[in-house]
Amino acid sequence: MLTTAQRPRLLTSTEPGWHAHIRAHGPLPPWPAAPSNRLLLEVEAAGLRGRGGGWFPTAAKMRAVMTASHNGGGPAVVVANAMESEPASLKDATLLAASPHLVLDGLVCAAQAVWAQEAILCLPQDNPAVPVVASALAERSSRGADPLPIRLVCPPHRYLSGEESALVQWLNGEEARPSMGKPYAAGVQGRPTLVQNVETLAQLALIVRHGAAWFRSAGTQAATGTTLVSVSGAVNRPGVVEIGVGTSIVEIVNRCEGVSAPVQAVLTGGYGGAWLPAALGELPWSPEDLAAHGGSAGAGVLVLLPGDSCGIAETARAVSYLAEQGAQQCGPCRFGLSALAAHMHEIAQPATSPFDQRGAAHLSSRIRGRGACRLPDGASRLADSALEVFADELSAHRRGQCSGGRQVLPTPRRKGLA
Ligand SMILES: Cc1cc2nc3c(=O)[nH]c(=O)nc-3n(C[C@H](O)[C@H](O)[C@H](O)COP(=O)(O)O)c2cc1C
Ligand code: SF4
Repeated sequence: MLTTAQRPRLLTSTEPGWHAHIRAHGPLPPWPAAPSNRLLLEVEAAGLRGRGGGWFPTAAKMRAVMTASHNGGGPAVVVANAMESEPASLKDATLLAASPHLVLDGLVCAAQAVWAQEAILCLPQDNPAVPVVASALAERSSRGADPLPIRLVCPPHRYLSGEESALVQWLNGEEARPSMGKPYAAGVQGRPTLVQNVETLAQLALIVRHGAAWFRSAGTQAATGTTLVSVSGAVNRPGVVEIGVGTSIVEIVNRCEGVSAPVQAVLTGGYGGAWLPAALGELPWSPEDLAAHGGSAGAGVLVLLPGDSCGIAETARAVSYLAEQGAQQCGPCRFGLSALAAHMHEIAQPATSPFDQRGAAHLSSRIRGRGACRLPDGASRLADSALEVFADELSAHRRGQCSGGRQVLPTPRRKGLA
């Protein structure tokens, strides 16, 4: 039996149409006649933090966009980020397929908060939610439901195209590569731009309806509300679950009908996240609790690694993918990531030397903090956590043994084929 604080809030709709949406959530309050900061203050009071991976306070981003707008930046643009580039994440597509109107309501609310005149939803072309969102937009347009135009655009599906400055570059007609630019100051067409993950927007749509106190009634003091977690690997029912932030990992797994095999470790946060030993199952799923043990809530990815998988080999595949997806603009991407991937593959082979293992750790430390975006940091963190959590596996490799070759992490499509 779920308590009020654990009950799903986002994933309640069984059908994506307008009528089901209104039945489940009711209409949005009317758009105010004049600009006001009431909504921003409510978001601040709710303590909403972004669900796209960074858990950054949403009100602070809104404030930065408004300031840039008032300081001559012109009318703001809001962008809903549904790129979901983390290979093991399914939450954004699941949310959009189930409740497209909740996300679109949130986009409208974000526009209202920063007084934007344009809203854009970015969803990869090959995402199964595209037709659902297109039909939700048509429904809203025929009802005149929205006070501003909302555009659906479909950028290429690559790891980097979800990074906010890369997304803005693409919207400005360039290749989707991270830039040093700050979208909140100068984003789409040089205008102040608020980029929010679609789950963040859906949470915003609920805060607008139910208020800050209701939102805070789930979650932890530092990370309020519920959150979506994509659970995969050694569980009986892989999929997306909505939990109150702070629910233990064991409880999340129970919501997925338990483990399907003995588990040796869990991947938290995604390919840009970190491994934790399975013994930490009682740990609360919150950004602070996970980080305190070297993990990451990131974009809400939890992968259970079964005993017959090799954590080093799995990490080598993930780092290879990240290396391949790098934009090759900065040193760590051009030189460091592929070398790290090669080293990880080397030590994934039984009978590796301690020298190779030290080489991987050294390369990882050289990459960290050197890229213009967080992609190399993510790869380095993942590799470091693997070297620590799978220390016994590495010792076994030195003796010519390995836990096994079962592949659990998804092998994403190769760059350029998306
Ligand atoms: C390499 C990289 C990839 C990213 N991919 C995504 C993505 O697919 N979806 C997303 O919402 N955020 C992604 N982000 C985070 C965005 O840059 C940005 O912080 C986020 O969209 C802001 O929304 P939020 O504050 O609601 O989390 C990525 C960041 C990095 C460094
Ligand atoms: S670190 Fe890599 S992906 Fe990030 S900006 Fe530099 S070249 Fe691009």
